[in-house]
Amino acid sequence: MLTKGFAFFAFMVLSQSVFSAADPCCSNPCQNRGVCMTFGHERYECDCTRTGFYGENCTTPEFLTWLRVTLKPSPNTVHYILTHFKGVWNIINNISFLRDAIMRYVLTSRSHLIDSPPTYNSHYGYKSWEAYSNLSYYTRSLPPVGKSCPTPMGVKGKSELPNANLIVEKFLLRRKFIPDPQGTNIMFAFFAQHFTHQFFKTDLKRGAAFTKGLGHGVDLNHVYGESLDRQHKLRLKKDGKLKFQMIDGEMYPPTVKESEVEMMYPPHVPEHIQFAVGQEVFGLVPGLMMYATIWLREHNRVCDILVKEHPEWDDEHIFQTARLILIGETIKIVIEDYVQHLSGYHFKLKFDPQLLFNQKFQYQNRIAAEFNTLYHWHPLLPDTFQINEKEYNYQQFLYNNSVMLEHGISEMVESFTKQTAGRVAGGRNVPAAVFRVAVASVEHSREMRYQSMNEYRKRFMLKPFESFEELTGEKEMSAELESLYGDIDAMELYPGLLVEQPRPGAIFGETMVELGAPFSLKGLMGNPICSPEYWKPSTFGGNVGFDIVNTASLQTLVCNNVKNCPYTSFHVLDSEHTKTATINASSNSAPLEERRHLKLLLVVPSCCGVFFFMK
Ligand code: HEM
Ligand SMILES: *[C@@H]1O[C@H](CO)[C@@H](O)[C@H](O)[C@H]1NC(C)=O
Ligand SMILES: *[C@@H]1O[C@H](CO)[C@@H](O)[C@H](O)[C@H]1NC(C)=O
Ligand SMILES: *[C@@H]1O[C@H](CO)[C@@H](O)[C@H](O)[C@H]1NC(C)=O
Ligand SMILES: *[C@@H]1O[C@H](CO)[C@@H](O)[C@H](O)[C@H]1NC(C)=O
Ligand SMILES: *[C@@H]1O[C@H](CO)[C@@H](O)[C@H](O)[C@H]1NC(C)=O
Repeated sequence: MLTKGFAFFAFMVLSQSVFSAADPCCSNPCQNRGVCMTFGHERYECDCTRTGFYGENCTTPEFLTWLRVTLKPSPNTVHYILTHFKGVWNIINNISFLRDAIMRYVLTSRSHLIDSPPTYNSHYGYKSWEAYSNLSYYTRSLPPVGKSCPTPMGVKGKSELPNANLIVEKFLLRRKFIPDPQGTNIMFAFFAQHFTHQFFKTDLKRGAAFTKGLGHGVDLNHVYGESLDRQHKLRLKKDGKLKFQMIDGEMYPPTVKESEVEMMYPPHVPEHIQFAVGQEVFGLVPGLMMYATIWLREHNRVCDILVKEHPEWDDEHIFQTARLILIGETIKIVIEDYVQHLSGYHFKLKFDPQLLFNQKFQYQNRIAAEFNTLYHWHPLLPDTFQINEKEYNYQQFLYNNSVMLEHGISEMVESFTKQTAGRVAGGRNVPAAVFRVAVASVEHSREMRYQSMNEYRKRFMLKPFESFEELTGEKEMSAELESLYGDIDAMELYPGLLVEQPRPGAIFGETMVELGAPFSLKGLMGNPICSPEYWKPSTFGGNVGFDIVNTASLQTLVCNNVKNCPYTSFHVLDSEHTKTATINASSNSAPLEERRHLKLLLVVPSCCGVFFFMK
């Protein structure tokens, strides 16, 4: 009787779950970026339009697609080629039509992976006018997992995800500082934080899906303020300049009190070091305030130059033109110094908007929630901050702008340039001081119902991982991850990115680069100043301004604005890390399957080379 009753009960539960499994799209049946749509509760259809594939699940390639997929080298092979053969690249870098062709290929192949105009957001998993037009949302490159799906990742994995604290403790928290083998320094870490916090400005009052950064890109609101009201409070209203104060003969931002610009400072911070800048959270770290000060000086320096060129222009005209010049400088530095360093490529990247003028390319951008999530590079952070023999722990460093006044910008630049940052991928390198931030990243990803890491890999043309061991490249963490998640297809994106096996000698694993680079390049080149009508000298006040943009670099930015013109770069000068890493990387050459491709590429360079550039 009892068993019968139980069987009946089990049948009820089972049949219920079968009939109310509601959404057949939960299993992500549509491949190759086909769009899944339900018809009733049991049936779905895949829309394979323009995917290059057809069939029930968009799995059968059209002939040209087949050819391309067959000939196309894998991302790891391309990465291998770009980070080796230095001698060959030295020659290619000097042949302008080849450099241009390769750069054009890099830009188009990456940005083609970004939907433009944008499509989904965290509340709309289908196309809608609301999702397109409401700029308060971050966009999404994959729709959220349906609310009625049986598991948080769709149908794979357990019905509940492992505790977020546990995940961070076990796999992300730093044991011992792991230096980045690419030699990335703290100058880079603070640049990354400063630069990205103009477009990663989550509106936590509304939730993780929302942003306060309505410009959705490189608009320099972190220098000029998000609202017009804030901008006017920051401006001097003379010669286009921003308000400033002089301390010991050097220029610094005004205080909150003087400018009446709101900033987030805890109440204990003394008034005289409450500096006011465009981004309201930049009081958090002296490294951010250092960059804010450098860019403030740069703006006012450019204004002086423009006033000389255009004594006839009013304050507004000078201000607006200087802002466009600084936007151009930022993009130039980010591509040619920052991304160049991160990539580890021997190929020399080039910021040249003209490369895209005869391509299909939309000059617009929308920041994606996934881009924000993957950019949580807190493993970069060191255990303590060293400035000129002085060592600061987090408690002494955070919200302490006295550090900037005590040392001055010059000493900060020198010291941050010398201090190595942490490796991002490979696991267990998030410093305890930002433990909560890592937990929040996991929790926000769940709140926004992110799909699994493997679904993101497929979305960005990568093969899904087949096992946890393939993800981490080791046995210990992968076994624990497997027991917690149950299925590699249920592995979450953010922890996945941070535990992924780094590429040999590199700061990141494959997934971080292949997801991050498209968002990044689309955001940089999609800026209106890169469009044909803007990209000309008159936009920047004439050739003098245009030249400032086209010759910008981290070193010149620092040199033009910091006393003594200290040497700087995005990596530590001591190339010991880099050297061993390169040696280890080459002995650890591309996996076997990759080498086959490699041979193909080397044997028939002309054929594949041409194909490579086609698309
Ligand atoms: C001392 C250094 C740092 C501290 C104390 C810090 C702390 C924080 C905190 C408290 C948050 C908000 C977390 C939340 O959503 O609740 C955050 C967000 C974030 N951090 Fe950091 N962070 C630091 C450095 C960095 C660096 C070097 C990067 C490198 C790119 C970075 C990237 C981010 C990003 C992208 C966000 C999301 C911002 C947003 O959505 O508004 N952070 N960080
Ligand atoms: C399409 O995917 C569904 C669900 O994964 C599967 O049952 C079906 O056999 C697939 N169809 C084809 C033609 O492969
Ligand atoms: C690159 O080309 C320039 C002239 O275009 C030449 O002066 C220089 O020596 C070349 N460098 C190399 C490494 O070939
Ligand atoms: C955007 O969406 C949010 C959430 O639905 C809503 O509160 C907000 O008013 C919308 N913004 C605009 C400009 O419609
Ligand atoms: C802030 O930095 C100054 C300057 O180095 C230092 O003297 C002071 O102790 C720091 N404040 C705190 C609260 O640690
Ligand atoms: C490079 O390999 C050697 C020997 O295998 C090892 O001792 C060293 O720690 C490795 N260096 C890096 C940066 O991985």
